[in-house]
Amino acid sequence: MSQKEVQEQIVADLKDWQKIENASMSSCSSILEKTDHPLLRAVVETIMRDSQNHYNIQQLIVDSMEKKPFSLTPEDVASVWDGIEKHNRLEKRTVEMATKLLGEVKGQHLTAQHYLLRYLLIDEEKHNAMLDMLEKVKNDLYPYA
Ligand SMILES: [Fe+2]
Ligand SMILES: [Fe+2]
Repeated sequence: MSQKEVQEQIVADLKDWQKIENASMSSCSSILEKTDHPLLRAVVETIMRDSQNHYNIQQLIVDSMEKKPFSLTPEDVASVWDGIEKHNRLEKRTVEMATKLLGEVKGQHLTAQHYLLRYLLIDEEKHNAMLDMLEKVKNDLYPYA
């Protein structure tokens, strides 16, 4: 396949994925009509918001390939890097808090709370991973640093 064909395939796959995210959002809203339970609603509402977010990110990738290529310059990165490093420390503290709380609820018969805290820990670890990956993107921009 030519490079152009590969890129068209990527865009087509992303658009297929967006259809799944749309189906996920409709599925979440029909589940939400059936329950007032705060725990169940929180789970489904979270997945619904994430599906919207995933859809938006897929669109960003599509747009970057179809009309607006990314250009991330060292200046772009430099303008926010101090802020990101400070933010990184906050994200590390959130992982510590989630881990501490998981230890505290352990053995307390707080199953639902334990479940929600496990979710928060995974999500905070994800934020940490996103910023770590961004650091690698930044380092690729400074190959001689
Ligand atoms: Fe998704
Ligand atoms: Fe976070």
